[in-house]
Amino acid sequence: MICAVTAVSGHLGREIALKLMDRLGAGQVVGLARTPDRASDLGVEVRPGDYDEPDQLVASLQGVGALVLVSGMAPPDDRIQQHRNVIEAAKAAGVRKIIYTSIQGPDTGTAFSPVVQSNRQTEADVQASGPEWAIGRNGIYIEPDVEYIDSYRATGTIANSAGNGRCGYTTRSELAHAYAALAIREDLNGQTFDLNGTPITQMQLALYLNKAFGTDLSYRAMKSADFVADRTAELGAFIGPIIGGIYDGIRHGAYDRPGDFEAVTGRPHQSWDDYFADLAG
Ligand SMILES: NC(=O)c1ccc[n+]([C@@H]2O[C@H](COP(=O)([O-])OP(=O)(O)OC[C@H]3O[C@@H](n4cnc5c(N)ncnc54)[C@H](OP(=O)(O)O)[C@@H]3O)[C@@H](O)[C@H]2O)c1
Repeated sequence: MICAVTAVSGHLGREIALKLMDRLGAGQVVGLARTPDRASDLGVEVRPGDYDEPDQLVASLQGVGALVLVSGMAPPDDRIQQHRNVIEAAKAAGVRKIIYTSIQGPDTGTAFSPVVQSNRQTEADVQASGPEWAIGRNGIYIEPDVEYIDSYRATGTIANSAGNGRCGYTTRSELAHAYAALAIREDLNGQTFDLNGTPITQMQLALYLNKAFGTDLSYRAMKSADFVADRTAELGAFIGPIIGGIYDGIRHGAYDRPGDFEAVTGRPHQSWDDYFADLAG
């Protein structure tokens, strides 16, 4: 059965396609991308796959048995319609199973909640679509904190509004391992899984970064409004409040979950000890 993955020009889609290649062989995997040139080195066939182009999607999904739909980046209302375009195209092309990369988080009460709600709507759309389905709800990526190390080093602190909340972070590599399993295993069909590692506090995150990078970071809790103002000044009026909303969710415990990673993959999520030891080299 051919497995297709959308958004293979992005980090997560690419990693999922690579994991599927390992398991199925390159001939059984097809990548879809809005910008196929960005995935030309992937090693599998890459077809056009713009979520705003329904006819193109139907053409590119011909012959595909299972489709991993990687969540898009558009504002919530646009994103719901984009995902519907993919789901409808999959149905029209005779795709037998849809796997959707959703997200964890609070449906209400934070500035991130509209994004979470849009993911929940796509979950409902996938479930009602007709083909078999499986859904993963991703924890928060840990990589952005690692990539931010120079900024953290410059101030000596990790400062945000998470407080003592624990966050079940994950990595794109571990998520890709799980999505390859969800695409291949038929016994997991019709279920939704939380995909994350062991929850940690921001103070623990600072200690892990210190060990990996030889820094001396400490954690400083900020008031929610101050953190939103800080993020908005750096990232703009759309993303700033959304980032603030994610950390409000962490503070409220929305990401403090054991997760279902082992049930999906047959092994535990990579430990943070191992992840940061690998980074230290
Ligand atoms: N769990 C988390 O912490 C977290 C954090 C950030 C995002 N996310 C979600 O996870 C998804 C994947 O993350 P990532 O790391 O792979 O993001 P990424 O590296 O930024 O990649 C985003 C991908 O979305 C594609 N895309 C955007 N608009 C599209 C459209 N109209 N049609 C088709 N493809 C489109 C991009 O294609 P182009 O190359 O053409 O731009 C790119 O391949 C994101 O899209 C977002 O929904 C999760």
